[in-house]
Amino acid sequence: MFGKKKEKTNKVFNAQKMLLTSDSSFTMQESFKTLRTNVTFSLPGKKNRCIGIVSANRGEGKSTVAVNLAISLAQIDKKVCIVDCDMRIPTVAAKLGMENRPGLSDYLADEEGYKRLPVVKNNDFNIDVIPAGTIPPDPTKLIESPQMEELLTALKNVYDFIVVDFPPVTVVSDSAMLSSVIDGYLIVTLHGSTETSQMDETIRQLNFANANVLGFVYNSKPASRKSYKKNSKYYYYEYR
Ligand SMILES: Nc1ncnc2c1ncn2[C@@H]1O[C@H](COP(=O)(O)OP(=O)(O)OP(=O)(O)O)[C@@H](O)[C@H]1O
Ligand SMILES: [Mg+2]
Repeated sequence: MFGKKKEKTNKVFNAQKMLLTSDSSFTMQESFKTLRTNVTFSLPGKKNRCIGIVSANRGEGKSTVAVNLAISLAQIDKKVCIVDCDMRIPTVAAKLGMENRPGLSDYLADEEGYKRLPVVKNNDFNIDVIPAGTIPPDPTKLIESPQMEELLTALKNVYDFIVVDFPPVTVVSDSAMLSSVIDGYLIVTLHGSTETSQMDETIRQLNFANANVLGFVYNSKPASRKSYKKNSKYYYYEYR
């Protein structure tokens, strides 16, 4: 009885947070399978891949795509870690029903001798999570620290895939700063919202940093919240 109630609560939570499960719509499941396949084939010959998820603006679906790509990769038994690098407005932990602290910022700031890497296992989806942590006064300073690069390099020794969720490119330059360790970037665009000029600026900034752009995720949100589960669509276009 209690088990059934918990299962129902989980279902509602997963649907609200747009998490990929066996209850998700066929379109959503197929779109993430396609995305997973395209990401895997976009980086041939590489074993341990670090994928950065970016978009031009806030609210275009980066974190949703990042979390679901991580879940989708774990579904085919890949060892996956998701890192929330949006230390200004972190959402990865909340989407997964986890605590956001301690996390990346606490580790990088290392203020109270915080040496232990804050990796938390999410047993529901079989992924490891590094939440963003305590909101720091200057996130960019932490992102550009040598420890951040070292951390991603070290994670590559452990995981098949590291999915990194970033803040928007036209707002802060955090994502481009890590282009030497991110093997490939996916740019999320939101149907009817992302403007061409904003997309141009995003690509320009990533190109300027010599970033390897793998392609675009075309995200479409329904207008009304009530119908989101039924109508949500994810498409992926490989563009190069
Ligand atoms: N395809 C979709 N269908 C329905 N809702 C969606 C879809 N994609 C994203 N959302 C919802 O839109 C909101 C913003 O999504 P998300 O947090 O993934 O965007 P973001 O780009 O990471 O935002 P931010 O730049 O603030 O970090 C969330 O409430 C999310 O659940
Ligand atoms: Mg986000």
